[in-house]
Amino acid sequence: MKILVQAGDIASWKDEAVVVNLFEGVAKPGGATGAIDAALGGPIAHAIALGDLKGKKAQTLWLRPAGKIPTKRVLVVGLGEKRGFGIDGVREAAATAAKTVRDAGVRSFATIVHGAGIGGIDPEDAGEAMAEGALLGAYSFDRFKTQREEIKGLDAMTVVEQERGRIRRITAGAERGVSIAASVNLARDLANLPSNEKTPTALAGMIQKAAREAVVKCTVLDEAKMRELGMGAVLGVARGSEQPPKFVVLEYEGRKGMKPVALVGKGITFDTGGISLKPQDGPLGPMWEMKHDMTGAAAVAATICAVARLRLKINVVALAPLTENMPGGNAQKPGDVVTAFDGKTIEVINTDAEGRLVLADALGYATKWEPQAVIDVATLTGAVVIALGRKCTGVFTNDRGLMRRLESAAKATGDRVWELPLWDDYDPLVKSDVADVRNVGGRTAGSIAGAAFLKKFVGGQPWMHLDVAGSAWVHGNEEGLQKSYYAKGASGVPVRMLVQMLRDWNRG
Ligand code: BES
Ligand code: ZN
Ligand code: ZN
Repeated sequence: MKILVQAGDIASWKDEAVVVNLFEGVAKPGGATGAIDAALGGPIAHAIALGDLKGKKAQTLWLRPAGKIPTKRVLVVGLGEKRGFGIDGVREAAATAAKTVRDAGVRSFATIVHGAGIGGIDPEDAGEAMAEGALLGAYSFDRFKTQREEIKGLDAMTVVEQERGRIRRITAGAERGVSIAASVNLARDLANLPSNEKTPTALAGMIQKAAREAVVKCTVLDEAKMRELGMGAVLGVARGSEQPPKFVVLEYEGRKGMKPVALVGKGITFDTGGISLKPQDGPLGPMWEMKHDMTGAAAVAATICAVARLRLKINVVALAPLTENMPGGNAQKPGDVVTAFDGKTIEVINTDAEGRLVLADALGYATKWEPQAVIDVATLTGAVVIALGRKCTGVFTNDRGLMRRLESAAKATGDRVWELPLWDDYDPLVKSDVADVRNVGGRTAGSIAGAAFLKKFVGGQPWMHLDVAGSAWVHGNEEGLQKSYYAKGASGVPVRMLVQMLRDWNRG
């Protein structure tokens, strides 16, 4: 979909559809909505009077002007309450507009910057949110649909702006929004992709291709190299699979001489649980959903690509260990002991706690860059879904500054994060009788035990762990976070908030 920004008057704009908006509780629409309503003889005010249109968030109403104004169709999108309306409201309104127009089989529309009338929203931010919202809202994963009528798409959204003086800044923002949304949708595509199409080798190739396009340096370590480096934990997980593991290293330099921020992503291209096999229908979902257990890898790759496209003045490395977790004849077994990159030995009590194993090697390997901070992203534990539901990302950190940065980024992007404890009191949970550490705790504090395990491999680095097991996948029911720019399947979390964090990095 093309995003255009043009000067003009929406009421006299000619397109397949024109989208205007309405705040909740407004009886007589004003602004662009009022102008169109007046030109059409008052159908919007009438719908409000009838109680058919309330302006609730994501509510929509189609009108057919029948020649009274140049556009063929008008769509009114509800913005919800005026109080508290902010940049995420703009994003959501753009998403609802794009999704509704697309689902109607209409291929292009014009609209205005939603909520601009209430003031307080910077034109660049608004342009960015408009583009981002529309591209995220119009996203669908239809690669495997062979029937043309099932493939929905949009050709263009035109943001029509009356004030000429704002055009340049709205356009600049929209360009950034396009870059960010493209990265988020890349992460969604990779996570939605079935695992037969994304073996570690294939996924490494896809990441390499994306990196090349974004001008990010990409190195793929093969199994022999991983053995040479001593990545015994990834290799242990990979033993059960016919597919060789890969370790992807991405590097972006935007500021010479600066220590990089290291991103580390769990890349299990399918998690069967291994010998500790998962049930077909587990308490938290069916086994097939474990195709998205590489969300962390996709997210860090997508983030560094966005950072490069935005030409941020910062250095970033992204590390992604990729492997299947399968119960093959050569698979590692409960009780096995493996040696991680940093030399620590791990007793593998449960082969289904494989994410922390691959991260152990990657967190250790990250020290090679002497990063100023390490942030890992992983669909790590079912327990985080039990603790926090599917409404937010669970966060662990040993650095208050990192938490502050994340919270401020999440506020800007409309993401939800919640911190869980990393106190040393939990360390005994992962104490082993035979090795330096074991890969599971007991029945309690599952997510914290996961973080306590990872902490052993972080060394002294400032570090943050994002457990996205609840926030990475959208089921389309009330359990999930309600966002108009989400669709069933991969949510794209936490790409937007990581990009935001890195954009704000040099501000401290
Ligand atoms: N990939 C899963 C965690 C997961 C569960 C992600 C649900 C998304 C949705 C992870 O590898 C896993 O299986 N964790 C185990 C850990 C346990 C064995 C300590 C779990 O959560 O049950
Ligand atoms: Zn697992
Ligand atoms: Zn897993």
